Amino acid sequence: MNDRAAVPASVTRVELTQLVLPQYTNAIGTIFGGQVAAWIDMCAAISAQRFCRTQVVTVSIDELHFLHPIQRGHIAIFRSCVNAAWNRSVEVGVRVEGEDPLTGERTHTASAYTTFVSLVEGHPAPVPRLLSESTDELRRQGEAELRRQSRLRHRDALEARRG
Ligand SMILES: CC(C)(COP(=O)(O)OP(=O)(O)OC[C@H]1O[C@@H](n2cnc3c(N)ncnc32)[C@H](O)[C@@H]1OP(=O)(O)O)[C@@H](O)C(=O)NCCC(=O)NCCS
Repeated sequence: MNDRAAVPASVTRVELTQLVLPQYTNAIGTIFGGQVAAWIDMCAAISAQRFCRTQVVTVSIDELHFLHPIQRGHIAIFRSCVNAAWNRSVEVGVRVEGEDPLTGERTHTASAYTTFVSLVEGHPAPVPRLLSESTDELRRQGEAELRRQSRLRHRDALEARRG
């Protein structure tokens, strides 16, 4: 889709739920960080594709801080949506929570901000406009603009340094 039609943020919501089996844990029995990053990327990619309806690639994942572990046998929940859309790229936010299956108690594990580029025939292509409707969606869009400025400044500074 590249006609700049408007797509509501709500249609990009994705929830991915995983049982933390032993193969997803580290040596101390809590979730492996690399696995969390992979599921973040997968959940976010589905949001980006629901928005763009093209192939998409991850161009950037912002700093990822792990606030609380998730134990083996607990549930990992990933929720994502498109926060903002620019010319050929979108920011997708992902919130990760751990759930104790016996009590239902949920803990915030991490939040991540990912950027995806829409590709058509292998080249960056225009994305639709984002329709942010709720107060939360508008807040996320505004905050995403600030993160984009900082991301692109960082990228440009590195490129200038490398010459
Ligand atoms: C994504 C990719 C196609 C972009 O190509 P490029 O020539 O660097 O891109 P451009 O400079 O033309 O920019 C394309 C878009 O990406 C955005 N972008 C590029 N680098 C970025 C970064 N570090 N952070 C955020 N956005 C970035 C640009 O702002 C632009 O979006 P906009 O038009 O909405 O402003 C290319 O970098 C690539 O193929 N990277 C590898 C992607 C990949 O393989 N990911 C899978 C995991 S390894």
